[in-house]
Amino acid sequence: MQVDGIAYRTIWPAADGRAVEIIDQTKLPHRFETVRLETVDAAAHAIRAMLVRGAPLIGATAAYGLWLALRSDPSDVGLDAAAEKLVATRPTAINLRWAVDAVVQEVRPRDTGARAEAAFAKAGAISDEDVAINRAIGEHGLELFKRAYAEKGGQGPLNVLTHCNAGWLATVDWGTALAPIYMAHDAGIPVHVWVDETRPRNQGAALTSWELGRHGVPHKVIVDNTGGLLMQRGLVDLCITGTDRTSANGDVCNKIGTYLKALAAQDNGVPFYVALPGPTIDWTLDDGTRIPIEERDRREVTHLTGQTDDGRIETVRVTPPDAEAANYGFDVTPARLVTGLITERGVAAASHAGLAGLYPERACTA
Ligand code: MRU
Repeated sequence: MQVDGIAYRTIWPAADGRAVEIIDQTKLPHRFETVRLETVDAAAHAIRAMLVRGAPLIGATAAYGLWLALRSDPSDVGLDAAAEKLVATRPTAINLRWAVDAVVQEVRPRDTGARAEAAFAKAGAISDEDVAINRAIGEHGLELFKRAYAEKGGQGPLNVLTHCNAGWLATVDWGTALAPIYMAHDAGIPVHVWVDETRPRNQGAALTSWELGRHGVPHKVIVDNTGGLLMQRGLVDLCITGTDRTSANGDVCNKIGTYLKALAAQDNGVPFYVALPGPTIDWTLDDGTRIPIEERDRREVTHLTGQTDDGRIETVRVTPPDAEAANYGFDVTPARLVTGLITERGVAAASHAGLAGLYPERACTA
């Protein structure tokens, strides 16, 4: 996507060949800064501290992290230690383990002298594949958006509600849930997006709003509890979110609060779609009950960071100093609340049969 006239992906090899570069998403929307990652520790830190975030992007970052590790220690021990370090950074998104496993499988059979180069090539291929997957999700989603707009009689804006950030910043490019929104907007459908702020880290208010604004997509940021009211009033035509891990039966794990939106959507007859790249399906889990839910630092709940009117970035506490807090990062939306899964291979019912129909080669080996 374009930032100030320059086309960016969210991760790319540095021109000098000695690092990988990322956009520091903790600084957005206030500052656009890029950061060089030169070691596996720097890559692990970038994932854990959420300089990069979003399921597909943390997978791509981990893949490049293995390249960085193998440059200094290409031994089996070095490979296993780096893989373990990267997988331990965040527990919920399955793309992280998927990407690490893909690189490890690629490099382990090779001589140690050839491993770093093979890891670099595989990380690039994973990144390119992510872009192609997201473009295809966008195209399939666009057909749904066209139908939804036609069903409205082509009248007024198509009101779409989204949660968290599943845009290009969460992937290598395009985004998952936002890809159909960008394509619909570019195709002339008057899309208007309700952007859940997505406490505690405000990925909606900070990142989705920034992305949509740069692309010229009309949107409004709303506090997380607004969706129910909007749906009762007929102000939401469809919901669309991303996912960090979807089990084989179509249960969808995504940013905390997604489940409550899906419940409100069901109660109000609003379609609830999830954009799902193939690598985000966990075929080893029959349902979503065993998906590990990340619990992060409680300070993300008790404090807020923002920019003052005179341009300073400040963090302030919003609770009493002694308040206890809990910070669950994700929740699981049962498949029965999901209208459809928009994948790179087409739209599937949120069920084992629906997913197996699109991915027969993976479903039968699971
Ligand atoms: O904690 P985050 O910001 O990494 O959470 C991101 C999400 O929940 C996204 O919706 C999900 O990763 C899908 S992104 C294509």
